[in-house]
Amino acid sequence: MQTIELHTQSRPSTVLCGAGALDAAGEYLAGKDAFVVTDSNVYRLYKERIAEVFPAARVCVVPAGERHKNKNTLFRILDEMLDARLRRNSFVAALGGGVIGDMAGLAAALYMRGTRLIQIPTTLLAQVDSSVGGKTAVDYRGVKNVLGAFYQPERVFCDPLFFRTLPPREIRCGLGEVIKTAVLDPATGDLLEAGKDRLRDLGFLHELACSCIRFKAKVVEADERETTGLRKCLNLGHTTGHALELLCGRRSHGEYVLIGMWLESFIAEEEGVCTPAYAAHVRSLVALAEPRIPAFPNAEEGLRFALLDKKNTESGQVSLVLPKARGEYAELSLPAERYRGYLCRLQGGNA
Ligand SMILES: NC(=O)c1ccc[n+]([C@@H]2O[C@H](COP(=O)([O-])OP(=O)(O)OC[C@H]3O[C@@H](n4cnc5c(N)ncnc54)[C@H](O)[C@@H]3O)[C@@H](O)[C@H]2O)c1
Repeated sequence: MQTIELHTQSRPSTVLCGAGALDAAGEYLAGKDAFVVTDSNVYRLYKERIAEVFPAARVCVVPAGERHKNKNTLFRILDEMLDARLRRNSFVAALGGGVIGDMAGLAAALYMRGTRLIQIPTTLLAQVDSSVGGKTAVDYRGVKNVLGAFYQPERVFCDPLFFRTLPPREIRCGLGEVIKTAVLDPATGDLLEAGKDRLRDLGFLHELACSCIRFKAKVVEADERETTGLRKCLNLGHTTGHALELLCGRRSHGEYVLIGMWLESFIAEEEGVCTPAYAAHVRSLVALAEPRIPAFPNAEEGLRFALLDKKNTESGQVSLVLPKARGEYAELSLPAERYRGYLCRLQGGNA
């Protein structure tokens, strides 16, 4: 089992990574007042394990999927927490993918101004990214993650056991965030390139996940609340990815991140942020997981959504985090019309 410490200012957090992490979560909560939040898919697959590992916990099961990451589900979780008479020192355990982690994390932050929280991420994406770093949120009125809070879990338990039941699509989705990290972090980049033929090997995915978590932990330690700007690097590919996600909504978050990185590599190249060779390298990494890039459906609507992005600091400008060179990124604010022009040119995709 690997232990990664996050020395964050608000509250230190410890990530335990390895086989047996789920049992370690059970031991951590043994004898405590615990409330497990999960989704309908995870519950169907792991009902017996949940009962075995958390025998005394109340379990709150919400519908699966991003479209349920909203205020109604959030308030349903809060209602059940209140009905269960949770106290401030009770534990909320978020057991699921990024959607559950974000919603249960926000419920824990809101309830009595903060109950104790642990994360037990069950998707590759949630292990490599969303469960670590304390960002919690729900989508509201068509804007992704617009209602949220920074709230660090005191422990994160990443067990590779959960990868066994993940459909290939969810693995590809997690690879989106792995590839993003590989562009930002030379250590993860080297590991990925050395093992690019082993992306179906669950043990290798676990190695990649640990490497991504180590990188994310360093970034979050340096800039917990995205104030100095370093944490913004984790948004590489996300402006266009989120715009597409809101526009189409048919694929998963990680798939849109991959498509966003692919599209934005052209912008980085054309704006002189990176060399054409480096942009092509980024696209070759994206192609490891997502070889078919769909056509951008509607540039006008894409721009409308990109203008709602939380990273934008000036009106009429779209803020992007672009690849610059190995392990380096750059922030760029583009006037809306210029960004729309890129979206128009990218309407062909490569599929
Ligand atoms: N907080 C952050 O820092 C952060 C970072 C990245 C992404 N996110 C958020 O994460 C969300 C995406 O997370 P996700 O991709 O995990 O989505 P998800 O939680 O919807 O999970 C994807 C699907 O996999 C199923 N599933 C979960 N674990 C499984 C398992 N072990 N076996 C089989 N099926 C399983 C779920 O029921 C769901 O249908 C988005 O809402 C995104 O905004 C948050």
